[in-house]
Amino acid sequence: MREKIAVYPGSFDPITNGHVNLVERALQFFDGLIVAVAFNPNKAALFSVEERLEMIQIALKNDPRVTAASFDGLLVDFVEKQGANVIVRGLRALSDFEYEFQMTLMNRKLNRKVDTIFLMTGFKWFYTSSKIIKEAASLGGSVRGLVPDIVHQRLKEKYPNYRNVP
Ligand code: PNS
Repeated sequence: MREKIAVYPGSFDPITNGHVNLVERALQFFDGLIVAVAFNPNKAALFSVEERLEMIQIALKNDPRVTAASFDGLLVDFVEKQGANVIVRGLRALSDFEYEFQMTLMNRKLNRKVDTIFLMTGFKWFYTSSKIIKEAASLGGSVRGLVPDIVHQRLKEKYPNYRNVP
């Protein structure tokens, strides 16, 4: 039987425990998952695409069911090239909904063969986002427990205020 593969796209700048939780949930329904890091030259990122991919691989402990890849251009084109037809996105608090709805409808207009499914992030991670993690870490606040250990380490290399956080 053909393997069912889904694409989980995002900025992942950096990957958080909320993302890791979503990958684990998605793997209950799919044989394989492509965690796809979007390369967007118009969006300033803290970590390079290569750094983000490396952190994803380490955080997901090189699970053979998961592939980390980067893409530029349209997400639906990338999904089709991978031989997949499902995009997985995580939903946290209500605030995600409008943006996700817009994106899903646009993707559907661009390619009717690709559909999006949403999984709710674990309750523990409902208010975790890469953006808030970076803000706290840049000011020296510990984000340990909210991000994989590798991200905690890499944040120390990026932010002088975070260097001495145990
Ligand atoms: O983690 P993010 O930043 O919410 O992820 C957003 C992402 C990367 C999934 C979205 O910006 C995207 O799909 N970018 C690729 C460009 C694209 O296909 N745009 C048209 C659909 S809205």
